[in-house]
Amino acid sequence: MDQLVVSGGAITAIVTAPWAVRWSSIRRTPAALSPATEPACWPPDGSTSQVTTGTGAAGANFQACAALLEAGDDVLMERPGYDPLLGSARLLGARPQRFDRLFDEGYALDPDRVRAAMTEQTRLIILTNPHNPTSAPIAVDALLEVGRLAEARGAYVLVDEVYLDVSHPEVRPAATLGDRFISTSSLTKSYGLSSLRCGWAIASPEVAERIRRARDVIDGNGAIPAERLATLAFAQLDRLIERAGSLLAVNTARLRRFLAASPELEYLDPAGGTVAFPRLRGIPDATRFVVQLAKEYDVAVAPGHFFESPAHFRLGIGGAPAAVDAGLTQLRAALDARIWE
Ligand SMILES: Cc1ncc(COP(=O)(O)O)c(C=O)c1O
Repeated sequence: MDQLVVSGGAITAIVTAPWAVRWSSIRRTPAALSPATEPACWPPDGSTSQVTTGTGAAGANFQACAALLEAGDDVLMERPGYDPLLGSARLLGARPQRFDRLFDEGYALDPDRVRAAMTEQTRLIILTNPHNPTSAPIAVDALLEVGRLAEARGAYVLVDEVYLDVSHPEVRPAATLGDRFISTSSLTKSYGLSSLRCGWAIASPEVAERIRRARDVIDGNGAIPAERLATLAFAQLDRLIERAGSLLAVNTARLRRFLAASPELEYLDPAGGTVAFPRLRGIPDATRFVVQLAKEYDVAVAPGHFFESPAHFRLGIGGAPAAVDAGLTQLRAALDARIWE
């Protein structure tokens, strides 16, 4: 962990650490390597020119949008999608266009749909990997194809990877695939340290510099006490990811048992992710169910309308196993009581 350098109170240097951890784990797994996934732009030399920091992944996402978008630009975004990403583009005066990731296709990323939705003004394509809200992973070939589409238009591809380290530790950050890609992430989801608000972006040196200049006018830098604490966390990344991974393994097994025993639900396997996005069979809008579930059963799930998919609801399983188990037990009781009727 040579990259644990703190300079001038900023943690720009230390955010190379998670990358380095994953780099070394990939190097220990030669089978994971193929020409298609060889890094095109990342020198594994501890350089920080490709890393910028932000207030959580949310801050890193907004900075990247601010660096790459101007009012009137077109932004292409997946549907269902994570609403604040849509909001970032709108706040900057950009025009979101959509392409679908479909339940019937396992929410896979289909480059043909991306191609069909692109315009002459498309400057940025925004993806989540794994997908929020479904946890579907993106195939590297599809990602590379989307990168080629972006390059042909002079556009970029922002991949929010906030769930990636814990759910797919073998997958490289998209930013290693070429200089059209920007990866964002944080200590929040995969490392369980949301309160530190420690996020980052990885990009080509040129794009990283543009993102840094955007941060200059957004908030300059993070709170120094939080950055100091994040420094301590970076020294413990292996332990943090191991902890998160073992909680997730228990919770995933529990969730799979729950889903398999819930004929009222249509669902896709969460594929090792921390969220699942089932829908109630034959019910076009799950909002009433979600509201009643919170009121009567004290269980909070995100209603699908937040993700433009009202028939669905999003379950999170990133917490302590006892809490997830209790929540799923309550959810089962609510399904038995047919509280949506
Ligand atoms: C896809 C995605 N990106 C970013 C965030 C925010 O992460 P952070 O707490 O690091 O700002 C979330 C939180 O739910 C998320 O789901």
